[in-house]
Amino acid sequence: MQNVSQLPIAIFDSGVGGLTVFKAVGRRLPAENLLYLGDTARLPYGTKGRDTIVRYTLRAARILVERGAKMLVVACNTATAAALPALQREFAPLPVVGVLEPGAAAAARASRNGEIVVIATEATISGGAYQEAIARIRPEARVRGRACTLFVPMAEEGWMEGPLVEDVARRYLDDLFSPVMTAPRPDTLVLGCTHFPLLLRALQHVVGPEVVIVDSAATTAEFVEGELRRQNLLNRSEVGGSRRFLTTDNPDRFARTGSLFLGSPLRRSEIELVDL
Ligand code: DGL
Repeated sequence: MQNVSQLPIAIFDSGVGGLTVFKAVGRRLPAENLLYLGDTARLPYGTKGRDTIVRYTLRAARILVERGAKMLVVACNTATAAALPALQREFAPLPVVGVLEPGAAAAARASRNGEIVVIATEATISGGAYQEAIARIRPEARVRGRACTLFVPMAEEGWMEGPLVEDVARRYLDDLFSPVMTAPRPDTLVLGCTHFPLLLRALQHVVGPEVVIVDSAATTAEFVEGELRRQNLLNRSEVGGSRRFLTTDNPDRFARTGSLFLGSPLRRSEIELVDL
């Protein structure tokens, strides 16, 4: 019989963006088997209403759980913000981890002056989950959120740097980071969306080198390792883990755009088309 620790870590996202989390988990935990589902047929989640996001997320998570998993990682900020408690209730006692708490904790630690900006999708910002999570850890912090909807298609198109990306970033962020403001300038920027790490260099250029950029992919991988260790679920195998990808639409496109997010080639043979 298969040992529970050998079961895969299931990673869910609305599309290819969660591959930034997949990559960070794979780097940190190379012995783990990883199973990824991107609900590309329904992307974007970030412009949808809360009830719809919860419904889609529960359905997608069920597919992963039915295949057998020792942990579910919700690698989508929008789905985490809307559906994490519903997932934890539905699939208990399976550990379900989201990207929001690790990112919020890292931001609360990183900021010196307590002025923090979170950028994410419309649904994540309007739900206020990041703002609340940071306030729970650092109540005196001033957290401002900004929906940066256009960053999602830009990252999928492979537009990660250059004048166009920086112009769009300035349009979204200039008023928050403007040096003529009377209030202290934010010193921390949280990338509260799976797609935004791809734009890191352009964003750093726009906000300036002194601003700390918190990428929730890296902080989530660290958190996943901690949780697996705590629950004695780490895979102790000496052999490198396997990887498998599921998508709900157009596997060829998934392979193409997914390679951008992974930073390495994704083969069509590794991808299975599923229906929710
Ligand atoms: N994965 C989503 C997130 O992290 C971005 C893409 C979408 O809107 O579905 O918020």
